[in-house]
Amino acid sequence: MRAGEMPDPEVGENDVLVEIHAAGVNPIDFKIRNGEFKLIEPHRFPLILGNEAAGVVVRVGSRVRRFKPGDEVYARPRKSRIGTFAEFIAIAEDDVAHKPITLSMEEAASIPLVGLTAWQALVERANLKKGQKVLIHAGSGGVGTFAIQLAKRFGSIVATTASAASFDLVKRLGADTAIDYRKDDFETILAAGNRDEYSAGLQHSQRLVQCFSVETILADYDVALNSLDGETLHKSLRVLKPGGILISISGPPDPDFAKEIGASRILSLAMRLLSFRIRRKSKRRHVRYSFLLMRASGDQLREISSLIDLGIIRPCVDRVFPFESTKEAMAYVETGRAKGKVVVKVR
Ligand SMILES: NC(=O)c1ccc[n+]([C@@H]2O[C@H](COP(=O)([O-])OP(=O)(O)OC[C@H]3O[C@@H](n4cnc5c(N)ncnc54)[C@H](OP(=O)(O)O)[C@@H]3O)[C@@H](O)[C@H]2O)c1
Repeated sequence: MRAGEMPDPEVGENDVLVEIHAAGVNPIDFKIRNGEFKLIEPHRFPLILGNEAAGVVVRVGSRVRRFKPGDEVYARPRKSRIGTFAEFIAIAEDDVAHKPITLSMEEAASIPLVGLTAWQALVERANLKKGQKVLIHAGSGGVGTFAIQLAKRFGSIVATTASAASFDLVKRLGADTAIDYRKDDFETILAAGNRDEYSAGLQHSQRLVQCFSVETILADYDVALNSLDGETLHKSLRVLKPGGILISISGPPDPDFAKEIGASRILSLAMRLLSFRIRRKSKRRHVRYSFLLMRASGDQLREISSLIDLGIIRPCVDRVFPFESTKEAMAYVETGRAKGKVVVKVR
């Protein structure tokens, strides 16, 4: 990746031209750079990286109704039209929302990708409800810091994995249980917690024992959100109760996803094979496995703006880099140690 001059973006009739003030950096940026997405999202080069931004509308296409020049906005542009590590970008109106008024440009730029990911996982797929138990992995990361707050907004009970140094952070965000992934095994800890609750519950209702096997009672989470490796994915299955849902944003992709993106027969077959083991195990436990690749949505961003302006969700920005240091910002995200989000200040 290097800095260079590119032509000004063309503005279609349904597009808004945004002068970018800040852009969020995400693992997807270095993954695209490394070619990891080329089967799913073919890009043409030279490609401007960057998957989310906040800025000011400077021009609108003839059919745009919701925005006008001068509006402060934020967006995750759709996958075929990324490129927020830049001074300007043309984005489809449907992908844009007014930026939360309580946030700075840098804070707003940190929200769209992780906010939409958490929304689509917990609200759309899991249909999260009050009192449900959710396990969110990597609670101190970009997705995790948002997902914990969103789950709490829906009245869920949240367990998360993080290193001990991030416990204050994840507890402040609302996590009820934090598990040190460097020292402890989340599966054992969550099961032990349940065992205590279970023993206390027994004093009130002996009948519980007859209704369920002990293993079923110990595995009582409704939702698990995985953003880590395969081992974590398979272990997460064991904390979910029958009827629960295991959502993974780090793979493996499943046949539903292949259908969603209209994958070729070969690619569909590859996805079927890659997810075979986890789908089979999930089925045996009566759990639904679902791979999610988030998508752009201005409508959902509007809902997220409201939650932010009501003070229900706060951004979590670890570091802001100057535009000239975009490469360093990418390298920092690539270390996998960021606490919350990393942002590039463009203007
Ligand atoms: N499918 C999709 O639509 C989608 C959308 C967004 C993200 N993703 C993917 O989801 C993953 C996470 O994204 P992100 O933006 O949240 O990443 P991130 O912000 O870079 O994650 C870094 C954080 O992860 C924590 N962490 C690392 N290893 C951990 C482990 N074994 N257990 C618990 N926490 C751990 C680190 O904590 P410590 O520093 O304390 O170790 C750090 O705070 C990436 O692979 C990304 O590509 C997918």
